[in-house]
Amino acid sequence: MTDVRQANGTDSVVTKLFRSEQGGHEQVVLCQDRASGLKAVIALHSTALGPALGGTRFHAYASDDEAVEDALNLARGMSYKNALAGLDHGGGKAVIIGDPAVDKSEELLLAYGRFIASLGGRYVTACDVGTYVADMDVVARTNPHTTGRSPENGGAGDSSVLTAYGVFQGMRASAQRVWGEPTLRGRRVGVAGIGKVGKHLVEHLVEDGAEVVITDVRPAAVDAVRAKHPQVAAVADTGTLVREQLDVFAPCALGGVLDDDTVAALSAKVVCGAANNQLAHPGVEKDLADRGILYAPDYVVNSGGVIQVADELNGFDFERARAKASKIFDTTLAIFTRAAADGVPPAVAADRLAEQRMAERTPADRWMPPTA
Ligand SMILES: NC(=O)c1ccc[n+]([C@@H]2O[C@H](COP(=O)([O-])OP(=O)(O)OC[C@H]3O[C@@H](n4cnc5c(N)ncnc54)[C@H](O)[C@@H]3O)[C@@H](O)[C@H]2O)c1
Repeated sequence: MTDVRQANGTDSVVTKLFRSEQGGHEQVVLCQDRASGLKAVIALHSTALGPALGGTRFHAYASDDEAVEDALNLARGMSYKNALAGLDHGGGKAVIIGDPAVDKSEELLLAYGRFIASLGGRYVTACDVGTYVADMDVVARTNPHTTGRSPENGGAGDSSVLTAYGVFQGMRASAQRVWGEPTLRGRRVGVAGIGKVGKHLVEHLVEDGAEVVITDVRPAAVDAVRAKHPQVAAVADTGTLVREQLDVFAPCALGGVLDDDTVAALSAKVVCGAANNQLAHPGVEKDLADRGILYAPDYVVNSGGVIQVADELNGFDFERARAKASKIFDTTLAIFTRAAADGVPPAVAADRLAEQRMAERTPADRWMPPTA
């Protein structure tokens, strides 16, 4: 059979889906509701471990193809993240195409929820960029497969507390690996981005006895942390922070921060932070390893949030969710051990461990949607 290619010669989404190594998704659903203007893509990468769980991104994509591609990539990432978080969930993700500030409406979110309902539990949604707890409260009105809702509506609310806690566990595991002790006491830690997650991470670090340096593009956020912890130092920007004498660098703002320049400038021996997709391009994980910098894979250490939303599906219990997030310490250490054994960077070892967990499910163990 010949390849299906678009007129411009690039692979079509269908080709990528069915033939590429990065494909292999189980199901992709294109949704449209003309009355509300909803255009959405729901991508289910894997349900090997259970119902696919992942948030809904609301974004004004440059093209519809770009939206499908983003949904495919994000869904795949969720399979790996959920597998290593020890959840009985596969990976999925949805994107709603449009500008959330202009196009988001109650009618649109309710229509979106009806499409999720039509999947009979194969996909469970939550918040992502451009969607919030209040939106999940609306989506939940038309389907029960929604998490990340407000406490008033039976949800767990803001997930940043457990995300920060999980990052801290990953950082303790990194300290164990590099310095032989699971503590940041006496270490100099630079936190780039002190938003919802970063500010909680600073609390853990201060409590543990670390020396903390922060930066954020919002001066008010810096002032708020320094008002509470005057011993915390601040620098002008992330470029300055990475050039500081640090033991640990914790990216907690946007993705792509670990590029060639940053890696070359870093004095830190550990990189461990909350930001998604920290590696700017393939190969950076090897550059970090070659420079003797231990990289704790982002999707492993920032999985406290998805652990929280998964717990909410069983009636949220903070202590139960926190106990599960504590295991990020063991998982991160297991990744470093596997990386050393296989002679690969931790990012590669993490992927291998996730693939192993997914492959261990035999067809007989596999999750099936409940029959009516
Ligand atoms: N909130 C969660 O539960 C969660 C879960 C998993 C991953 N993450 C990821 O962690 C990161 C932080 O999430 P958050 O919820 O704290 O977001 P947030 O928007 O509350 O905080 C981000 C902070 O970074 C700052 N910032 C933006 N650009 C910056 C720059 N160039 N230099 C320095 N600071 C900059 C912002 O001013 C803000 O204070 C994101 O990448 C997010 O995708 C968050």
